[in-house]
Amino acid sequence: MWQKREDTIVHEAEPYNAEPSRAALAVAMITPIDTFYSRNHGSVPTVDPDGWRLRVDGLVERPLQIDLARLKAEFEPREVVATLQCAGARRADLVAIRDIPGEAPWGPCATSTARWTGVSLGDVLAAAGLQDAAEHLAFEAPDLSRHADAAQPYGSSITRRKATSPEVLLAWGMNGESLPAVHGGPVRVVVPGWIGARSVKWVERVTARRDPSPNYFQQTAYRLLPADADPESADLHAMPMLSSVALNSDVLVPSPGSTVSAGRVDVSGYAYAGDDRAVVRVDVSLDHGQTWRQAELEQDAGDWAWCRWHTTVDAEPGALTITVRAWDSTGAAQPDSAAGLWNPKGYINNAWSHTTIDVAAR
Ligand code: MTE
Repeated sequence: MWQKREDTIVHEAEPYNAEPSRAALAVAMITPIDTFYSRNHGSVPTVDPDGWRLRVDGLVERPLQIDLARLKAEFEPREVVATLQCAGARRADLVAIRDIPGEAPWGPCATSTARWTGVSLGDVLAAAGLQDAAEHLAFEAPDLSRHADAAQPYGSSITRRKATSPEVLLAWGMNGESLPAVHGGPVRVVVPGWIGARSVKWVERVTARRDPSPNYFQQTAYRLLPADADPESADLHAMPMLSSVALNSDVLVPSPGSTVSAGRVDVSGYAYAGDDRAVVRVDVSLDHGQTWRQAELEQDAGDWAWCRWHTTVDAEPGALTITVRAWDSTGAAQPDSAAGLWNPKGYINNAWSHTTIDVAAR
């Protein structure tokens, strides 16, 4: 479906929600399109590239209506390698602690990296002339979500400061190809370093506002609730709207439950820190976090991409648990306990990951 690999893990066929296997995600720094995860709150709309228009309005001096040809011709093209991560990535480990009804048990692979081509949103906003009062940029898309309360098309917003940073794109290309429909073609927003929910697909309107978007996916979903809050009755306005991605990491190879032969075992995975932070170290433990060794980092894809890490361990026959944690450039490390992070919507599980495998005698 949607030209994804056969080993893709499909959480839901309609709306389409799927992530690659760990082994598939491990293959490359830039995730191939057939491997990239996809998260949809409604049906994938068919948007004719020739009929597509972007409206830019609200608190701007010169409202714009731009077609794709004009977007490509009038603004400087940019390419950014950026990782997208869903706020629900690694929710499965939270669900294992306490059930989270109505939310898919995403694993660590709701995280992927692409080379995005487009123009800077900031350049388009400069052409429209943002008024001083504009503090937020709201994005609207045509896909209707029946999961929203009330049912509505998808929308979201980001702050003016982020929206005018050069890495934020209106993108029409992914890994050198036209942006596929399931990833938001013909044009989507790409907000590197922020939760995937803000990278609005099939974007057709950008509105400069004083306040964040009134859309359900900004106002109600994607807020962080304390463990004891009831999402139905909590005072959501007191709960933070999620924006930049938390420091995170996981093992991709070997996958949990797999069997390897005793001796030298290659272990690898990814680590990612959102926005203006960088991964500076990844630690691997074979004794549940009592002692650690440092993995080698591969970080050549630029400031907005994940880093890949690998190490080799000496494995003795029996069960082996590989624990991983990353550190970022602020000196912060991932928290140790997923139980301490449990929240009613299952967002932002960035606890140490534990991968248990069987080691067979040679
Ligand atoms: N944009 C629209 N229009 N509709 C959506 O359902 N899902 C968001 C975001 N943009 C969504 C959207 C979420 S939650 C994520 S994690 C990313 O798109 C996923 O992008 P992908 O499907 O290209 O991986």
